[in-house]
Amino acid sequence: MEKIQMVDLLAQHSQIRQEIDSAISGVIDSSAFIKGKPVGIFEEDLARYLGVRHVIGCGNGTDALQIALMALGLEPGDEVLVPAFTYVATAEVIALLHLTPVMYDVNLRTFNTDAHTSFEHIEQLVTPRTRAIVPVHLFGQCSDMDAVMTVAKKYDLRVVEDCAQALGSNYGPAKAFAGSIGDIGCTSFFPTKNLGGMGDGGALFTNDDELALRIRMIANHGQKVKYHHDVIGCNSRLDTIQAAVLDVKLRHLDEYISGRRRAAAAYTRLLKAADPLEKHICTPVESDFTTHTYHQYTIIVKDRNEDLVKDASTRDLLKARLAENGVPSMIYYPLPLNRQEAFKGIAKSLGDFHRDEDADDSLGNSEFLAAHVLSLPMHPLLKEDQINYIVEQIMDFYK
Ligand SMILES: Cc1ncc(COP(=O)(O)O)c(C=O)c1O
Repeated sequence: MEKIQMVDLLAQHSQIRQEIDSAISGVIDSSAFIKGKPVGIFEEDLARYLGVRHVIGCGNGTDALQIALMALGLEPGDEVLVPAFTYVATAEVIALLHLTPVMYDVNLRTFNTDAHTSFEHIEQLVTPRTRAIVPVHLFGQCSDMDAVMTVAKKYDLRVVEDCAQALGSNYGPAKAFAGSIGDIGCTSFFPTKNLGGMGDGGALFTNDDELALRIRMIANHGQKVKYHHDVIGCNSRLDTIQAAVLDVKLRHLDEYISGRRRAAAAYTRLLKAADPLEKHICTPVESDFTTHTYHQYTIIVKDRNEDLVKDASTRDLLKARLAENGVPSMIYYPLPLNRQEAFKGIAKSLGDFHRDEDADDSLGNSEFLAAHVLSLPMHPLLKEDQINYIVEQIMDFYK
């Protein structure tokens, strides 16, 4: 059996090495490293794939979120709703722009914004300063966008979808792509993402022509005409080399997603067979309104009584045991955002934010998930024998 890795980019790129080499050579030959032709070509190809009017490349997924909020013209002190269980970037850019991140809880089984817990929280959190919501499509499936759009309509909020982890996922009966439902969709092309470059990269999507113009200006120093700066912007561009590589990989995206789904199905089948009553482990739940592209395969590890009495985390013990046996795993994410030092005194939630280091009761699901999630190796080329071995190692831990 081959060595198990969380992701295997070398194997993925080996399959398309010639295509990538020739795309990169083309950029070197043109020497148009900034704003070269492949950038526009990739933007158009991705727009066609997603069925959106505009795709605008930028430096990375964090910049995409920042530019989106800048383009919406929010004022310092405006409030932006965000789930507490996500990668820091989603809320970091809100605080960076002197807006207030307002954190709501997520669904315990889908890890995402839902029509129950999240919806109820959002209803209570909205104030006259609330201007926008940033739902995250975490781990590869969409948040409940019907719930999000209902809230947005009711309170006149702008919607920025963070689909950094769910590029290629489809939502609802119309099969709309993640990122194409709200006002602006933002994604990341970090190398390990569903569509990953060979360095940093990101993009924004929108169907709104005016917003698209603003986004392009903001990402390019606030200028439409060179050296004429109409608004304050930033310098965030998708490199030509990245665009050329991404355009090659876009042609294989559906195949990569199928590979991820195949691996996830094998994990779920084997884990459910070994632990049918979820005594130890909960496998990921797929919502019926979205496809799942399995950016991550994330399980919930229940605490065993014997570990609880010793004040030990079963999840952490399992992770250590897997590592000893050659199985890497990751904790995405060990702290909910409300626990992050950086947001102290900045963010708001329904509970007492950061009260004496106690848990914020209103964010109980996010707190629970941070303490119990474990992401297993996941990539399109994960083999059946590797998955068998990983599941065997997990079940051996409980013997
Ligand atoms: C949910 C989420 N949002 C935003 C980002 C930021 O993307 P980038 O690393 O390209 O800045 C990431 C990347 O890890 C992410 O997972």
